[in-house]
Amino acid sequence: MPQKGVKIAKPEGKLGILLPGLGAVSTTFIAGVFLVLKHGFAPVGSLTQMQTIRLGRRDEHRAPLIKDFVPLASLSDLEFAAWDIFPDNAYESALKAGVLGKEHLLLVKGELEKIKPMSAVFDPSFVKNIDGPNKKEFKSKLEAANLLREDIRSFKKSRKLSRMVMVWCASTERYVELTAAHQSIEAFESGLANNDASISPSMIYAYASIMEGVPFVNGAPHLAADIPALTELARQKGVPIAGKDFKTGQTLVKTAVAPMLKSRMLGVRGWFSTNILGNRDGLVLSDAGSFKSKEVSKKGVLDYILQPEAYPQLYGSLYHKVRIEYYPPKGDDKEGWDNIDIFGWLGYPMQIKINFLCKDSILAAPIVLDLALFMDLAQRAGMRGIQEWLSFYFKAPMHAPSVYPEHDLSIQHMKLKNTLRYLMGEGLITHLGIEYYDYWGRAKKGK
Ligand SMILES: NC(=O)c1ccc[n+]([C@@H]2O[C@H](COP(=O)([O-])OP(=O)(O)OC[C@H]3O[C@@H](n4cnc5c(N)ncnc54)[C@H](O)[C@@H]3O)[C@@H](O)[C@H]2O)c1
Repeated sequence: MPQKGVKIAKPEGKLGILLPGLGAVSTTFIAGVFLVLKHGFAPVGSLTQMQTIRLGRRDEHRAPLIKDFVPLASLSDLEFAAWDIFPDNAYESALKAGVLGKEHLLLVKGELEKIKPMSAVFDPSFVKNIDGPNKKEFKSKLEAANLLREDIRSFKKSRKLSRMVMVWCASTERYVELTAAHQSIEAFESGLANNDASISPSMIYAYASIMEGVPFVNGAPHLAADIPALTELARQKGVPIAGKDFKTGQTLVKTAVAPMLKSRMLGVRGWFSTNILGNRDGLVLSDAGSFKSKEVSKKGVLDYILQPEAYPQLYGSLYHKVRIEYYPPKGDDKEGWDNIDIFGWLGYPMQIKINFLCKDSILAAPIVLDLALFMDLAQRAGMRGIQEWLSFYFKAPMHAPSVYPEHDLSIQHMKLKNTLRYLMGEGLITHLGIEYYDYWGRAKKGK
């Protein structure tokens, strides 16, 4: 396909990152950016900072860093703001989260202490097991949205920002089904005015973000912007949106291992995934409503990857179970176990066991950074609505109703890189490879 590239505005001026939730993920992300900028730490896990991208044929050996290839905001141009129900500043909150060591936090204490959370829009019927004093008072959900919009505007003005991005890093809300109030912009706006019970705080933040022309990302599994009213609003307002649920630990592994099994036509009888974790996220997820949101997002991936309807003999009777157990001694150190009962030639059984000892927020922080930078790029490139090319970062990627979500990690990765090539007018890479050999099978000379 001939490529022209897309007109992309330069990343001039400062980029504000608005974070609903100033807990483990947000503080690990913000502290990390300052540690990278001012103390030479490596931004491990971030594609925008560390990864290269191949351009052209394999014998051209062109592989610049992504950040040198596409015009991204630089880390020194980032400014941060957050909302939380707890009044702790980013330093205090990071200490409590216990992800980064005090010796590292002390290096950026001054920068972190300046980030004090704005009062939150909170509704205890959506998040159980925690509550705090730093909340906005409002009579209607529309008023709540307007208060958030004022916060967004005053952040922009006070820091002299040229652009902003919002990334939801607050707690997981309980599971909700789509209701009439979610179906159209009109129904949603009248639901805001009439305090419709099915409109959650994350939807109010997403609405405020989109109305202010600010790209919105949802790092948690609940719906937020993933409702017809808000996807349409984003499209109409020319705002990119993406979600849901950062793909960090067990699901990252699952979406790499499951495609491997399917590509070799190995059967799977059972997949039992369990997690133990002891952070505030784990406490919130020990409520059945919030767990249900997470379970739905974690469980969907195998059905799409393995296609039991196309391969009933291999995957038709797969038993898939996901558990999350709150276990305080673990803190932010999550332990994920996967027991996979597979079968091979003639149906002979085998097992794969994976024990992933990970740190949730260490895996999530670079994702927040990449998403913020790529969403800002998308907006400057005039992309609007659902950003499916960022599926790579999500457990339950948002997608148009006409297509199914793409969960296979390597396909998601290829999709992301091809989108960058497309934006910059470079040829897409198909990995076909026959162009390197002549009719007789001899290697062709490189360019
Ligand atoms: N860490 C990971 O690997 C990972 C992966 C996927 C998704 N997530 C999701 O990211 C989110 C953040 O995770 P975390 O470990 O930082 O959790 P956390 O509990 O440490 O932080 C969340 C913060 O959000 C605040 N909060 C709750 N409701 C709010 C509201 N309405 N407005 C503003 N603040 C609010 C809480 O007070 C808390 O401080 C969770 O929803 C989690 O499920 C995390």
